[in-house]
Amino acid sequence: MSETAKFILNGETYEFPVTEGSENEKGIDISKLRGQSGYVTLDPGYKNTGATESGITFLDGEKGILSYRGYSIEELAEKSTFLEVAYLLIEGELPNKEQLESFNENIRKHTLVAEDMRKFYQAFPHHAHPMGVLGSLVNSLSSFYPESQDPNRGEDAVDLTIYRLIAKIPTLAAWSHKNAQRHPVVYPKNELNYSENFLQMMFSVPSEDYKIDPVVAKALDLLFILHADHEQNCSASTVRIVGSSQANLYTSISAGISALWGPLHGGANQAVIEMLEDIKNDGGDVTKYLDKAKDKNDPFRLMGFGHRVYKNFDPRARIIKKACDDVLDALGIDDPVLDIAKKLEAAALEDPYFVDRKLYPNVDFYSGIIYRAIGIPTEMFTVMFAIGRLPGWIAQWKEMIETKQPIGRPRQIYTGANARNYVELNKR
Ligand code: SDX
Repeated sequence: MSETAKFILNGETYEFPVTEGSENEKGIDISKLRGQSGYVTLDPGYKNTGATESGITFLDGEKGILSYRGYSIEELAEKSTFLEVAYLLIEGELPNKEQLESFNENIRKHTLVAEDMRKFYQAFPHHAHPMGVLGSLVNSLSSFYPESQDPNRGEDAVDLTIYRLIAKIPTLAAWSHKNAQRHPVVYPKNELNYSENFLQMMFSVPSEDYKIDPVVAKALDLLFILHADHEQNCSASTVRIVGSSQANLYTSISAGISALWGPLHGGANQAVIEMLEDIKNDGGDVTKYLDKAKDKNDPFRLMGFGHRVYKNFDPRARIIKKACDDVLDALGIDDPVLDIAKKLEAAALEDPYFVDRKLYPNVDFYSGIIYRAIGIPTEMFTVMFAIGRLPGWIAQWKEMIETKQPIGRPRQIYTGANARNYVELNKR
């Protein structure tokens, strides 16, 4: 006998099925609640509400587990590459040699963007935040590829849009950096791998090609893997709900970029470094900042700490923290901000306020230290997150389309004025 949930409302008993996932997560299927009882549920921030069933990414917040299509993040971080993980997330299986080579070739073929797009960059002020530039430019891709408008146009058209997005986002991102520097853009070199190509577009100048450092390229590939997907987070949910209206994939991804920009989400990696810099410039007194974070009258939050799902540790933070030491050692960099980050983490993990609220470093706490070490400017940190998260957003969108999810349209509980008649202006 399968499990059910009984609600007693207004003396009536309603019974709803309980659904169980492949990792034994359970949910009450209330899709018939309003039709049967007239009631809706209320759950601001969807803290207790599942928006969908999904087979892409599994998180266990209590055990600190993260897996993509069943493969642990630890194994993928150690053994895979970003484009192989992108294929896994989007297609559902690890590619064989031929599939991976064909995927890589399709990405390489589309790294260039239409030369007309350079005019968009010239229209932005040089101080424009690169996330705003990237979101606009990704959205404008739908204008250059009108045939991609229809998400149901067929597998080849969807695949081509997917290749174009994954191939072009590093180019668009690097060009937003060049625009901020008022430097000429650098074109992709397709003999390089994904991370190497991005780095040379970011840092080459007409007089000198960027010298690829394998340590740096590998660290970047690792960071992209660690950011690749995270189930129904704010930006992935945004991509799914925008895509559920049958808007095209480019514009759905652009909406995800907008959601990621917020400092409570992907924008936290930039906010962490700015916070650590402030602490360093203020004498390095981490206790003072922990007290600020605990003070309800102080809007200051410990950026890079806490998570909606992870209530033990964020496995990505553990991997990145170790990579920080390895990359900075390999590059011979001694960054005092890393020492402050470690001091802050150690102090917070002994502080009852953080322990009681199960607040631990999340993916954004240490990632900025590696970005800094490899020369990425702070304002570009969230753009790096977006490049890494793109395959996850695409996989989430594709699953939503292929499972024919209805348009997302939550209900509400109205608390405004009751019915009243219009009052003429001269009588108010
Ligand atoms: C990402 O969802 C994902 O998967 C996201 C992500 C992904 O890969 O897509 O993992 C990426 O967005 C990571 C999170 C990056 N954001 C930050 O680092 C910003 C700082 N952290 C927070 O603002 C907060 O922890 C959130 C937004 C991450 C989670 O917020 P919740 O789940 O809504 O928790 P909450 O705000 O209700 O906090 C619960 C309590 C509150 O205190 P009380 O009211 O119970 O007394 O914890 C406190 C909060 O004030 N709290 C913090 C805190 N985070 C939570 N107090 C101080 N500093 C913090 N960072």
